[in-house]
Amino acid sequence: MKSFIESFSIPFYQTKIEDWEFKQEKLLSIYEDYAQDNMSFSEQNSDFDNENNYHVMIETILFEDIKRAVKEIDWIGGRPRVGNAWFQTYDHQHTHAVHNHGLGHLSMVCYIHYNPEKHRPTTFVCPYTSLIDGNVMEWEPEDVEEGTLIMWPSGLAHYAPANLSDERRMILSANIK
Ligand SMILES: [Fe+2]
Repeated sequence: MKSFIESFSIPFYQTKIEDWEFKQEKLLSIYEDYAQDNMSFSEQNSDFDNENNYHVMIETILFEDIKRAVKEIDWIGGRPRVGNAWFQTYDHQHTHAVHNHGLGHLSMVCYIHYNPEKHRPTTFVCPYTSLIDGNVMEWEPEDVEEGTLIMWPSGLAHYAPANLSDERRMILSANIK
């Protein structure tokens, strides 16, 4: 009987945030009040390194969505808390190279400004190569739009493909501990 090695599989969760337009406005006001003047540029604009401290506000806004995601992904137990959160904006040619968020917790991205006609979602890199040809395997979530929330084990490598348009792409990312 054919079966799959369950412990080699990678949990992944995707949903649409409930009551998105209301929450989008709240998230954008946190960006404007606490992040906008604190963004630094490397491959994209981010306030990740700038000791921001608004993660409790993010947790309050997205609490029900995060709680449901953590319950359904069913990968770590306990009560989910947003450990840290940050915004990233991608203008023309901005990108984010392959990276991970450390081991042992969950990470998430919420797409705040996203045009499916012009932007590409976060792309994930498989921790093992293809057992058929040894190639590196990548995967992109489908049907990403504004208000999409995705969650994955923090150690899974991923990147943001270059924004080839002139329209700004904006995400909120967070680690769930
Ligand atoms: Fe990331």
